[in-house]
Amino acid sequence: MSHLAIYPGSFDPITNGHLSIIRRGLEIFDGLVVAVLNNTSKESLFSVEERIELMRDAVGRDPRVEFDSFEGLLVEYARRRQTFVVLRGLRAVSDFEYEFQLANMNRKLEPRIDTLFMMTGEDSFYISSRLVREVATLGGDVSSMVPPNCAAKLAQRFGKQ
Ligand code: PNS
Repeated sequence: MSHLAIYPGSFDPITNGHLSIIRRGLEIFDGLVVAVLNNTSKESLFSVEERIELMRDAVGRDPRVEFDSFEGLLVEYARRRQTFVVLRGLRAVSDFEYEFQLANMNRKLEPRIDTLFMMTGEDSFYISSRLVREVATLGGDVSSMVPPNCAAKLAQRFGKQ
């Protein structure tokens, strides 16, 4: 039996922290389904298609990684995919409470679901998509925090990095 995990998130945009979780996740699982939340009620920087394209380019061709998007509840998506392991990255204690609630809510809604957490590397514990968006919007240099294709796309969108 192959062990797959869903790695869900907003990924708006992908950061080096996400990339590290994908690479390390592949050391543990046979495959990953990177699932981008299509949250129509929240304004995003990049469209779901753009986010997936950025991730696909950054990860490179790897048959073990599938990119997909979902709307609505993660548990519904997990049921549709018949994949009940969820992978999430944890940066700091501040992430814990929210992630703890999310993992338990998901398991309450679907008892087959288990969430596995990987600590992000020390070089990416301060990186979040939200801060990358903020810094990039204000013209700051985020090239050490995101993959090169993402830095280029942000530069294109916001001018000088
Ligand atoms: O990258 P993010 O924004 O931290 O990812 C959060 C995500 C997408 C994993 C989470 O918001 C999610 O699963 N949303 C889908 C709706 C849902 O199932 N919510 C959990 C029940 S409270």
